[in-house]
Amino acid sequence: MALKITVIGTGYLGATHAAAMAELGFEVLGLDVVPEKIELLSSGRVPMYEPGLEELLAKHVAGIEGSSGRLRFTTSWEEVGAFGDVHFVCVNTPQKHGEYACDMSYVDAAFASLAGVVREGALVVGKSTVPVGSAERLAALLPAGVELAWNPEFLREGFAVDDTLHPDRIVVGVRGERAEKLLREVYAVPVGEGSPFVVTDFPTAELVKTAANSFLATKISFINAMAEVCEAADGDVAKLAEAIGHDDRIGAKFLRAGIGFGGGCLPKDIRAFMARAGELGADQALTFLREIDSINMRRRGQMVEMAREALGGNSFLGRRVAVLGATFKPDSDDVRDSPALNVAGQIHLQGGQVTVYDPKGMENARRLFPTLGYADSALEAVRGADVVLHLTEWREFRELDPAELGGAVSARIVLDGRNALDAARWRAAGWTYRAMGRPRA
Ligand code: UDX
Repeated sequence: MALKITVIGTGYLGATHAAAMAELGFEVLGLDVVPEKIELLSSGRVPMYEPGLEELLAKHVAGIEGSSGRLRFTTSWEEVGAFGDVHFVCVNTPQKHGEYACDMSYVDAAFASLAGVVREGALVVGKSTVPVGSAERLAALLPAGVELAWNPEFLREGFAVDDTLHPDRIVVGVRGERAEKLLREVYAVPVGEGSPFVVTDFPTAELVKTAANSFLATKISFINAMAEVCEAADGDVAKLAEAIGHDDRIGAKFLRAGIGFGGGCLPKDIRAFMARAGELGADQALTFLREIDSINMRRRGQMVEMAREALGGNSFLGRRVAVLGATFKPDSDDVRDSPALNVAGQIHLQGGQVTVYDPKGMENARRLFPTLGYADSALEAVRGADVVLHLTEWREFRELDPAELGGAVSARIVLDGRNALDAARWRAAGWTYRAMGRPRA
């Protein structure tokens, strides 16, 4: 008989995982402790913007016309315990307030609730990003006869559905053959399509995730450090990245210089990793991550300085600054630790009149930074602007007509914080175009 799967926590990771499991053919029950989320999901909608996710939900959520009916949602732990052969724990692990360490309270609460209802013989699979050593501690909370496995998730926001259905690898930390066998059954389809299946122990599985994110953060901060040197030496970091990227030991991806990384993962994961290494007495091994973090934060400050310089080098008081982009990256409505909003906020605090526009992030941005100005379109945002900052590389911004925008601003100066606009096009339309880590031209 086909395995029955539950997914605990229906945020980014959980909602996508639940829909993907239904797409793979399993009966799935998703649980969240927030009733409003369950209500929304049960009608096939999600509380965030993620391309393709609502379509996938509509294909499977029970009660939606024409759906497979394989996916349901609940707030009842009893129902989850009675239903599931395999339980995926997908709750979030944010950064603790005022500390580097990660907040395990949602994971701990989920395991405590699950331990009270899980059937003997079931498998619990942790997917949340946790400090190394957590799986061993959590395994001890489960009743006898219930195994644990750790199966980190590598999905990117904006590509969550595709990354989950076609993962570039599946990593499972297990203690016994049965857990491995069950997980091979769950992932038979992607593995059949060629995703490598890496079996390891608990600590290694936990570390794979934090190591991967640390490497990605390092790559971005490396190229941003090169941008700093290029700025000092009048070099061109975009050309430099292109040239070193041809070496396939280095690779061309994740070498886009700009205002740096943000979001709900990379920043908090490298900080939690440092905190955990410290607890383990291995803090020296990760002191470089402190540098990665500070290079990253420095780029935001550099963008503010570029804007100040573009306005004549003095104060922002009374100057109008248009900000294109609020989310931490395009194709997402996520504004957590967004470099774009951080830059906008810094300029606002220094007296600038900031107007922000983002294709999908307006609602979240307004909630987080209620005192900034907002506009309903790029054209509205730049109206009367003394300088335009391009801070999240949405396709919509790349496709803007610089000639049309030029008619609305008070000065044609655009600063590209993502190295993504077509410099020649903007210059041809009479704009002063400047980008991070590149010559003034
Ligand atoms: C990341 C990891 O990529 C993913 O594997 C993990 O599961 C979760 O964390 P995500 O947070 O969705 O995914 O974003 P990602 O695409 O990695 O981008 C992170 C940040 O880096 C964004 O702010 C992006 O703008 C920035 N970035 C990315 C750069 O500044 N330059 C680059 O070259 C690439």
